[in-house]
Amino acid sequence: MKTNPHVFMNPSSIHLAIVGATGAVGKELISVLEKRKFPIGRLRCFASPSSLGKEVLFQGKPIAIEALTDDAFEGIDIAIFSAGGKISKEWVPKAIKSGTFVVDNSSAFRMGPDVPLIIPEINPHALQSHHRMASCPNCSTAIMLMAAAPLHRHFQIKRIVAATYQAASGAGFQAMKELKEETLAHLEGRPYTRTVIPHPYAFNLFPHNSALNAEGYADEEVKMLEESRKILEDDTIWVNATCVRVPVLRAHSEALNISFHQPVSVDQAYEVLRSALGLSILEDRALNRFPMPCDATGQDLVFCGRLRKDPSFPNTLDLWVVGDQLLKGAALNAVQIAELFVRQRTCVQSYYSLFF
Ligand SMILES: NC(=O)c1ccc[n+]([C@@H]2O[C@H](COP(=O)([O-])OP(=O)(O)OC[C@H]3O[C@@H](n4cnc5c(N)ncnc54)[C@H](OP(=O)(O)O)[C@@H]3O)[C@@H](O)[C@H]2O)c1
Repeated sequence: MKTNPHVFMNPSSIHLAIVGATGAVGKELISVLEKRKFPIGRLRCFASPSSLGKEVLFQGKPIAIEALTDDAFEGIDIAIFSAGGKISKEWVPKAIKSGTFVVDNSSAFRMGPDVPLIIPEINPHALQSHHRMASCPNCSTAIMLMAAAPLHRHFQIKRIVAATYQAASGAGFQAMKELKEETLAHLEGRPYTRTVIPHPYAFNLFPHNSALNAEGYADEEVKMLEESRKILEDDTIWVNATCVRVPVLRAHSEALNISFHQPVSVDQAYEVLRSALGLSILEDRALNRFPMPCDATGQDLVFCGRLRKDPSFPNTLDLWVVGDQLLKGAALNAVQIAELFVRQRTCVQSYYSLFF
């Protein structure tokens, strides 16, 4: 296995690749990299062969979309994959073999025992044991844990019952387009033929359309359980989720009912959440105003509020969480992992420079 030297030698000239650069997450990745001034020497953007000839703008300059080839990752230090599990399964091993560090947004490798599954505000230490790749969690898991993990650290979560209200963008760029077009067609009384979303979507909602297991739970619901256990490093936690797709363009909302091992008051929970990284309390009880998808759209922060004590069960709280899943649930989280990797490498380099 090769090692690309760039990151060790010069963190200000990192060669970075985005796989899936034309997608809903890919487009956000480009703007997050710009906004956070990620130290890029060269950016290469890959998409499907049907996007050849297209360009994306990065720092005001056009970058031609390329198709993946066997030598695509030569000289690439970091590649962020956002092109679905099938592409990741085929191309991530090739990228790693080329010496590239991979951040994968797909579910392909998330539960692999050697693959750190990371939310940088929650478990950055997990990156220390990487084997040239790390995965980002599912977007619903990420939004939930931004509020649940800080509470877990203080009061130890026993069980979460979650109901999600998931936006169209979680299903990709075409799903957002279809929601807009179907809504317009519905208002104008025209028929509309859907190709991505399986059910009527305008002015409607439906249980998550990912594959069901033998017990009837959707893949998305199972991911929320398994990924939470991995990230919180606690296999005793239960997450029982009901995932629902709602006709919102962007930002997932989640109603969480969390039971703890330790006693916890509403005031104690507010205090913990007020100081949690990447999270903001947004509420005005007098106005009955709590976080909404329109508050979270385009925002790095995840918003929460409406904490209540559940009188029906001991040590249990209800809360409401909303986050832009294209950002904290995907693009922002991936770039934060890449930043962690660069920092880790730079620290190692500084340490060795003391001796050589
Ligand atoms: N959307 C979310 O909120 C979210 C959150 C967390 C994780 N994720 C994960 O992120 C990934 C991307 O999701 P998305 O919502 O951005 O989907 P999307 O909008 O459908 O974008 C898919 C991207 O993959 C590219 N692609 C397809 N076939 C390819 C190929 N053969 N070679 C290279 N690129 C190819 C597409 O290129 P073309 O434009 O050329 O087709 C497009 O850029 C998925 O794995 C998804 O599970 C998404």
